[in-house]
Amino acid sequence: MRLDIFTLFPQWFEWFETQRHVRNVVAAGSQVRFLDYRETTPLGAGQVDDSPYGGGAGMVMRVDVIDAALQAAYGDARGGRRIVLLTPSGRMFDDELATELAAEPDLTLLSGRYEGVDERVRDHLVTDSVSIGRYVLAGGELAAMVVADAVLRKLPGALGHAESALEESFSSALDGHPEYPHYTRPPTYRGWSIPEVLVSGDHERVRQWRRERSRERGAGEGTGA
Ligand code: ADE
Repeated sequence: MRLDIFTLFPQWFEWFETQRHVRNVVAAGSQVRFLDYRETTPLGAGQVDDSPYGGGAGMVMRVDVIDAALQAAYGDARGGRRIVLLTPSGRMFDDELATELAAEPDLTLLSGRYEGVDERVRDHLVTDSVSIGRYVLAGGELAAMVVADAVLRKLPGALGHAESALEESFSSALDGHPEYPHYTRPPTYRGWSIPEVLVSGDHERVRQWRRERSRERGAGEGTGA
């Protein structure tokens, strides 16, 4: 995958780049770039935003600035590239969308800042608008990082074991349910014991137990139970 993240704060991603799954996919041939809107803005003094038409508080990121950033990176060859704007009002991000995006050969994430992004970006420059939840962050950087994290860890070689991303929370292997509970040593701690089935050596029973717990958690979803 060639993943590009556009941002006003590339330094925010310095930590992200060092994460094992990100290093693993890069070592396996993927490309991850962080591109700064200010480096390609057609306006003076690194300007990227402006006051909103119609009045109101805050600043809005300009469409020409975002278009110039995309133009500098891709020219007119945006073709089949998936270009995703991170915005609180977008399609809700979930495992299904992460899987869909992970199948893209070329993916672009646009983080916005300030009060928002000129609506013409959404109308004309991007293929998707995505939200990571019904709350407003100070900017799209954390949202882009969340999406990039969830997508990159699905790529081959990202995790230590090829299987570990298959049977995990919300995956189709678990029919979209959350993951089953995990336990490790010690078998009893302060009187809290692990379920006996897990040390029974009966793999079929273990599998069935895990599926049941996963389904149970799915039924209680959103309750924190
Ligand atoms: N930018 C600000 N808040 C956001 C959110 N909840 N999801 C995606 N992008 C955002």
